[in-house]
Amino acid sequence: MTPDLIILAQITKQYQMGAVQIPVLQGIDLRIHQNDFIAIMGPSGSGKSTLLHIIGCLDRPTSGTYLLEGKSMPDVSDKESSRIRATHIGFVFQKFNLIPTLNVMENVELPFLYADIDVEIAKKQASEAIHRVGLTDRIYHKPSELSGGEMQRAAIARAVAIRPKIILADEPTGNLDSKTGREILRLFEEFHSHGAAIIMVTHDKEVASFAKTIIYLKDGKIEDKIS
Ligand SMILES: Nc1ncnc2c1ncn2[C@@H]1O[C@H](COP(=O)(O)OP(=O)(O)OP(=O)(O)O)[C@@H](O)[C@H]1O
Ligand SMILES: [Mg+2]
Repeated sequence: MTPDLIILAQITKQYQMGAVQIPVLQGIDLRIHQNDFIAIMGPSGSGKSTLLHIIGCLDRPTSGTYLLEGKSMPDVSDKESSRIRATHIGFVFQKFNLIPTLNVMENVELPFLYADIDVEIAKKQASEAIHRVGLTDRIYHKPSELSGGEMQRAAIARAVAIRPKIILADEPTGNLDSKTGREILRLFEEFHSHGAAIIMVTHDKEVASFAKTIIYLKDGKIEDKIS
């Protein structure tokens, strides 16, 4: 049994809208290991993105326990939390979230700013990541000069350049045709085979079939887990 990378215990999340409390996550228990490749499925509004953001420390739970490599993340300072996030976690979003004014290389170099890594090492790792996703000949293109699949490749290069232990992806193929989507999923498989834990949200059963475990969320609870 590999050690737990992340432990979530009885995680809840409520949003406050004026006087009304909206319960979104209602007691999530989940252990994530370094060799996991998990797909999170479930109806729209069931809390998939909220859960992914909490796993990625982009959002804080209302209550519950969150441990990353044994460290209680809600207890560390904001500065320490951004540093841990920058060095441990890579994000991939449905809408790519690239900075339009920066070229591929500059976008991929961005996360290093938060990770306190030497500039020369950052440049080397950024070029390597761009090479691994097959974008070396597009390195000076701006996002508007790329196809959708290329934009997602650039976003994946940005997510993996720092060599994170965990890659989180929220509907990474949602804006792509199925062939391009499969190419993106093969990249995830490759990074997984090189040791990264992957957690991806998807609506698509075929996409989820690339994962080793599927978690079904319903009304903010884990309804089923299939390995
Ligand atoms: N910042 C917010 N303030 C208030 N309510 C929110 C906020 N963010 C999300 N919600 C609500 O929380 C619920 C869960 O949202 P979430 O984005 O996690 O769903 P999801 O499962 O990812 O849905 P989808 O499949 O449509 O992306 C929704 O009902 C949403 O309206
Ligand atoms: Mg969502």
